Amino acid sequence: MEQATGRTGVPEGTKIDFLTLSDFSRAQLDAILEIARRRKGEWRAGDAAEPLHGRVLGLVFHKPSLRTRISFEVGMRQLGGSALYITDAEVGFGKREAIQDIGAVMSRYLDAIMIRTFSQEDVVALARAASVPIINGLTDWVHPCQILSDLLTLTEHDCAPDGLTMAYIGDGNNVANSWVHAALHYEIDLRIASPAGFEPDAAALARVARDGAGRVQVVHDARDAVRGARVIYTDTWTSMGQEAEAEQRRQRFAAMQVNRELLRLAHPEVRVMHCLPAHRGEEITDEVIDGPHSIVYDQAENRLHGQKGILMYCLADGG
Ligand code: CP
Ligand code: NVA
Repeated sequence: MEQATGRTGVPEGTKIDFLTLSDFSRAQLDAILEIARRRKGEWRAGDAAEPLHGRVLGLVFHKPSLRTRISFEVGMRQLGGSALYITDAEVGFGKREAIQDIGAVMSRYLDAIMIRTFSQEDVVALARAASVPIINGLTDWVHPCQILSDLLTLTEHDCAPDGLTMAYIGDGNNVANSWVHAALHYEIDLRIASPAGFEPDAAALARVARDGAGRVQVVHDARDAVRGARVIYTDTWTSMGQEAEAEQRRQRFAAMQVNRELLRLAHPEVRVMHCLPAHRGEEITDEVIDGPHSIVYDQAENRLHGQKGILMYCLADGG
């Protein structure tokens, strides 16, 4: 049965939440990626199988979204299920109603719930309260769905994560933290350049240093991170919820722009990645994001296929 579902090492009937890459083993992440890769090929070949027929995914958003919302919604439809978009205006998460009641009640209607919110603790509380799988669609701390699909994109671009030299330039928050978690499992040589005070999560860095497959170095000069790098990754300087700090952040991060001069220091065939949305002219210039090294739209497309892998894995269908 384990082989049929791809849920390596997970006993039959166990609820699987997708809350952070650090909860998973390498074998589990590889299994999810394999489902995503296979379904992508099958879908492109015209295979309209509906392994999630009749299943309904709740999409709870406390922050805006383009990619995450659409890819989960379209992904569910293409797998034969459907999705329900739920904003906090109706639910009043933790205010109108306690998280434990929301989780218990939603589990009576829905087959799985994706949530994008601020606090990871709220996502963990929802997962405890719910009897159905909870998928983390981004918190202030991590963005595991993004990095899962990025691993697929990298492999497609001949940049498989084992042995990869990657520079992450910018804020050491959610996207960077999930990359640090990826280094637990994959032999990535990850160099993160952030301004002092904006480094990634110290506990995650310590865990990789202790028992990660890869290694992570944190520097404060973007040039030190990108020298020879095969991949440069960046993200906005002002994340959702931090809009009041935008001007101050523009000043703090001014030396962290991914531009043509910075690219010159990297590998000649460097790939440039950005989870999007991008603030063009801030963390990345137009000529770089629109240039020949950029693979940002392939990343965006693969959110769809990555979500399918996560959904099929968590819903125990495994393809
Ligand atoms: N990259 C990403 O998660 O995009 P959205 O915020 O548009 O969902
Ligand atoms: N760091 C960004 C990621 C957006 C997908 C944010 O949290 O807004």
